[in-house]
Amino acid sequence: MFSQKVLDIEQDTIEFRRKLHRHPELSFEERHTTELIISELEKLPGIVIERPTKTGAVAILKGGAGAGPVIALRADIDALPITEETDLPFASDTPGVMHACGHDGHAAMLLSAARLLSSEQQSLRGEVRFIFQHAEELPPGGAAEMQKAGVTKGVSEIYGLHLQSGIPLGVFGSRPGALTSATDRFDIKVIGKGGHSAFPETCTDPIVIAGELIGSLQTLVSRSIKAVEPAVVSICMVNCGTAYNIIPGEAKLTGSTRTFSRETRQRLPELMERIVKGICEAHGADHEFSFSKGYASVINDPVLTCLASELIKKSFGNDHYMEIDPLMPGEDFSAFLEDCPGFFADLGTMSEDPVYNVPHHNSRYCMNEAALKYGVQFYYDLVRQRLG
Ligand code: NI
Repeated sequence: MFSQKVLDIEQDTIEFRRKLHRHPELSFEERHTTELIISELEKLPGIVIERPTKTGAVAILKGGAGAGPVIALRADIDALPITEETDLPFASDTPGVMHACGHDGHAAMLLSAARLLSSEQQSLRGEVRFIFQHAEELPPGGAAEMQKAGVTKGVSEIYGLHLQSGIPLGVFGSRPGALTSATDRFDIKVIGKGGHSAFPETCTDPIVIAGELIGSLQTLVSRSIKAVEPAVVSICMVNCGTAYNIIPGEAKLTGSTRTFSRETRQRLPELMERIVKGICEAHGADHEFSFSKGYASVINDPVLTCLASELIKKSFGNDHYMEIDPLMPGEDFSAFLEDCPGFFADLGTMSEDPVYNVPHHNSRYCMNEAALKYGVQFYYDLVRQRLG
């Protein structure tokens, strides 16, 4: 199950995670975090460190046993704008910032994997790239920035893990194909004509039009997209009006869409604008519509998913791999998949102690550190299997 080597450094993995946890930094501001990671990487023999972006780092380990594939392993390192409300002795020392998604654990697992693998450099072929990626939480995201900087150039396959408090401890949850949704944003402006509430006939009331839009846009998912194809259209902000007796001139609707297939993601903005244009025109109003793309869907390569899930079962037992439903939250790991096939999985931390089962992005989120050794073992076994 666990290698003695992984168990021997388990406490170090936990301690490093706690160090990061105490000093969380927001997306694109992970300076101290990056320094901390680099200072540990510098202790490892055979590791070459690169800094292709302002924050974040890449550690390269070239195997000593000849040519072979390039395997990339990725951890995200950023925290969230939340004030921590746990009583942990290593709780965040920065008000308003907290590692509430477990990225501190991701970085610690990857660092420990780098440590173990660097000590076995001579028996590895090819190359391992350890990607400590900044800014997963804030679109356009650090992954896209790193991908553009060439971090995944020449990579044969890439792997990543996300700790997950909703999955049992040590169980890896994933699926072949679409794993996470594409997360996009839309902004609609209804341009009417304002005036006195007593004389609606002299106005073009954007509020009434916005009301129709709110209802009609919901028909896209139920009427225009295949029933077997998951999609969400959520209008989350409605802004208009200044006084009880003034019909405003404009109304703004802002929201997000979630899709899985490339085709649906492409079609959705066209379908939305058709409804917006049609309803606005019907009432004599103008409109503005913009659609900004966020993270693409993480699509797991079927072959690598099969390979990784078999490895997980072999390492930990058959019940440690679980095929899960697609996940609605986005994940910018997808940016790396433009260059190479990959596999991404959730790693469960759920426990009998409810303190560990608080959802991610919550001010009381508390990581079950017992899960970290599973991640380290997975990376270690994976690289040794692929490059050993
Ligand atoms: Ni996260």
